[in-house]
Amino acid sequence: MFAAYPRGVQPPRPETPFDRLGEAFFAELAAGLYAGIASDARIRAMFPQDLGPQSPSVADMREFLVQYFGGPAHYSERKGHPRLRARHMRFPIDQAARDAWLENALAALDRAAAAHGAGADDHALVRRYLVEVSQFMINHA
Ligand code: HEM
Repeated sequence: MFAAYPRGVQPPRPETPFDRLGEAFFAELAAGLYAGIASDARIRAMFPQDLGPQSPSVADMREFLVQYFGGPAHYSERKGHPRLRARHMRFPIDQAARDAWLENALAALDRAAAAHGAGADDHALVRRYLVEVSQFMINHA
């Protein structure tokens, strides 16, 4: 049985991590990750020259994360299905590159979580996601 909702009123939906963490948290996570990579000689060469806060790279990452954690789907509206592993195939990612990427991601996560008062459960949820998906992104021995 469907409940009837007045025109223009959204039916309830479950709260998402994005609802709790907010846009600014993901903006800081994405910018912080790429700021770290910009000065990390282990993987710097794979990335475009401009990794600043207004760069396309940061926008892609921010929109992807926002979408994944339940926010607006701007990433897919712009770029289609993420196909994350396929999009990474042109970069040889071995265990060392993954570990370097993850180190930068987790440092950025800790800063964003502290700055935006993320709860422990949400912090752990995002952390686990970054650890697992980065391992899945390895495509090179
Ligand atoms: C495992 C180590 C990883 C390495 C070395 C790596 C490397 C890269 C590189 C070189 C790019 C292209 C950057 C650009 O042109 O702006 C890129 C794009 C991207 N990466 Fe990663 N990445 C890794 C893991 C991840 C993970 C775990 C995620 C998801 C949480 C992710 C999400 C993205 C996204 C959303 C893009 C933009 C794709 C697009 O729309 O074109 N990456 N990555």
